[in-house]
Amino acid sequence: MTRAVLGPATSQTPDGSAAVPQDLGTPGGDRPPRLSVVVPTRDEAENVSLLIDRLVPLVAPLDAEILVVDDSDDDTPAVLARAALDAPLPVRLLHRPAHARTGGLSGAVLLGAGHARGDWILVMDADLQHPPTTAAMLAAVAMRHDVDVVIGTRYAGNGSREGLDGPAREVTSSWATRLVKSLFPRRLATVSDPMSGLFAVRRDALRLDRMNPVGFKVLLELLVRHPAARVAEVAYEMAARHAGQSKASLREGMTFLRHLFRLRGQRLIGQIRTGPRALRERLRELGRLVAFGLVGLSGMVVNTAVLWFCYEPAQLHHLLGAAVATQVSTSWNFLLVDNLIYRRTRRAGLPARAVRFFLLNNVLLLLRLPVLQALVWAGVGVLAANAVTLGALFLLRFLVNDRVIYTADERGRRDPVRMLVAVDGTETVPTPSRRRYQYLKYRYDVAGVVTIGSQIRLPELEFFRAQWVAGADVDIAVRVADVGGRGPQRRAAMTQYAEQSVLRYEEQLGRLGANFRIQLGSPIDIHVGPLLARSPHVVYTNVIEALLRFVMVSRGHMLLHSACVTLDGVGVMLSALTDTGKTATVLRLLRDHGGLFLSDDMTIVRPDGVALCFPKPLTISAHTLRAVQAQDLTPQEWRRLQIQSRLHSKGGRSLALALARFNLPIMGINALTQLLVPPPKYSVDRLVPCRMGTSTRVEELFVIERGAPGISDLDPTETLERMIDNTDDAYGFPPFRYLAPSITIDGQGYTQLREREREILAAFLSTVRGRVVSSDCFGWADEIPRLLREERGELRRAAVPSPVWPRWDAHLAGAGGAV
Ligand code: GDD
Ligand code: MN
Repeated sequence: MTRAVLGPATSQTPDGSAAVPQDLGTPGGDRPPRLSVVVPTRDEAENVSLLIDRLVPLVAPLDAEILVVDDSDDDTPAVLARAALDAPLPVRLLHRPAHARTGGLSGAVLLGAGHARGDWILVMDADLQHPPTTAAMLAAVAMRHDVDVVIGTRYAGNGSREGLDGPAREVTSSWATRLVKSLFPRRLATVSDPMSGLFAVRRDALRLDRMNPVGFKVLLELLVRHPAARVAEVAYEMAARHAGQSKASLREGMTFLRHLFRLRGQRLIGQIRTGPRALRERLRELGRLVAFGLVGLSGMVVNTAVLWFCYEPAQLHHLLGAAVATQVSTSWNFLLVDNLIYRRTRRAGLPARAVRFFLLNNVLLLLRLPVLQALVWAGVGVLAANAVTLGALFLLRFLVNDRVIYTADERGRRDPVRMLVAVDGTETVPTPSRRRYQYLKYRYDVAGVVTIGSQIRLPELEFFRAQWVAGADVDIAVRVADVGGRGPQRRAAMTQYAEQSVLRYEEQLGRLGANFRIQLGSPIDIHVGPLLARSPHVVYTNVIEALLRFVMVSRGHMLLHSACVTLDGVGVMLSALTDTGKTATVLRLLRDHGGLFLSDDMTIVRPDGVALCFPKPLTISAHTLRAVQAQDLTPQEWRRLQIQSRLHSKGGRSLALALARFNLPIMGINALTQLLVPPPKYSVDRLVPCRMGTSTRVEELFVIERGAPGISDLDPTETLERMIDNTDDAYGFPPFRYLAPSITIDGQGYTQLREREREILAAFLSTVRGRVVSSDCFGWADEIPRLLREERGELRRAAVPSPVWPRWDAHLAGAGGAV
């Protein structure tokens, strides 16, 4: 977290008078507020008192302070002081005298942000164009989501910019938005209103030292300079100014354009400067440089030939000829460069690439023409002079191509999915098709804690199949339905209808995409589109399990990312980062040490130290393969497994993650991949002959790690944090995870649920001994039993377990320690 102090010019006047905010209203206690509302004002005497009257009751419940940063020459400060007199929350005033108003509106906002004490900063205008109800609601939305910036947008959902003064301002505003978005196509890709004056930002995501206050567009700069910030939007209707006049002027317009081009220029220089670091990458770039040079040479021949033709037979002026020649050779170069050199790395669409390529060459043409003219005056021949100017700019042309136009720009990118929170808009649900029935064919009773009914079979939950659960009684219902609009759209979008507790994910391909829709309530209704319905694994891992987690918590259980077995009657839990070798270790413990299997990926744990089984089919990744014996599978299965395990291993997953950074229908791709090559999932006893346990009291926890062999005790508080982080990583795909914090289950909000989950885990861990076991040769499966035997003496083989009847009667699940 950075709380940089702005330069002395803004934070302090020469006499020091503005450095400390003046306290109006009720001063805050020792505890900082959760929200700081920053309001920039300039000559708003007619508006501030109404603003304060309306805003205070709305933001007070959010645990807020109000911070007014004032650059007025009228009596705004006095009016404010009067209005804030009996405000039940801190109202702070920072007045900047005339000589200290650096950065205008932006400077004021950033100065306010520097003084803010809340976790969230809400920025809004004082003239009531941002209706206080909307602003307060936006802050509330921001505070309950796991995102960094929430923007009030006039250009999406039910937003509108009615309130702008007159059609001229409306047109300017929408064209300016277009211009800005085309200059920063990637950084602003998922933002529809990058110039909004209404937004909230998480204070510790805001790096004030990156910001450079100029003019009106503070949000734009914030978005461009914080490429990794996670953004969501809330649609709103902009109102008309209450009183007084807008401070937007032609001069502000010019400042805006200057600011914009400076931002773009700085970013361009930054892009050109950040070349590849690794030697291999540098060599590759060198290779591309050579290839680019060769293409350039051929282009130079084309260029010279066209110029000759224009100049000699066609008798055109040589500058005009050079311009024509550039268009022809640019086309030639583009075809070659785009198809030969960057065929594999090109990301943006063909038109976007072409526009940038031509733009670059024409900007360079403008630089070349004066030089060409000068050379001609100096007596150099037209063709030769032209060639010299072309050659001189070669390196620049290459760098811009290689590092800007054809760069993936992987570092700190936002997710390409648009996130919109519709606050009062109601969702238009397509009428359910009569062809589809409502019957839930598959029912599951997950360890007697949560019931699920589904129209698609969920292989992960096979163990919990329970036809005796009545369809009407399920906690979570999964149905196949049409989700989303008919037509295609440019990006995938996650929309939340706050009022109806609906969350909808829609992909680019309209209804053909892998869409889903969740409606919270009892039951929780999940609708999946037909494509997604054909990939139950994707539905289960990305959607169902993430919800299951919180329903579990609301019922006093936790779905913990870990494996669990019993060895000689002792409950042993294993935890590891993905791809360490947890599954292989579990399999070997079962095969070589006669363990009972409870879970491999997720274990259900209770505060009393008992773990319940959750035997999902195991995913066999490439390195788990060594724990599987060929004779346990049919030859065909074994051959298929060789391919599957590679595709669905770490490499495969990181490819999927890499793809997720681009504007692609990622869930759809995922679903199709799984359709074509189903992930290698085998129930545990298909892989090793073994028995299953239903519950056990966990006594030992081993965190397995790769590294120099060794065993060390785990610090309990650290264990708690690690297990929580590890579990968080395992759930939901990003856009869903960001919005999920707004969920409410059984009247409990996300924060409460998280709190409760932590308590469950802490209580569970309090009776467990935790240790880290490191090994550099996958030796965990030998080391752990050896340790246990050493400490506990040669334990008798556990008695043959009582028969397992997967019926979760209260007394059975409640019988802690029963195996
Ligand atoms: N402290 C300070 N210093 N405040 C200022 C300054 C300044 O130099 N200039 C304007 N403000 C305050 C105004 O008092 C008001 O509260 C708020 O900033 C917005 O100013 P307006 O003059 O009402 O601007 P606008 O309505 O034309 O523009 C608004 O909408 C734009 C989108 O169309 C602003 O929110 C812009 O940021 C936004 O881009
Ligand atoms: Mn205004």
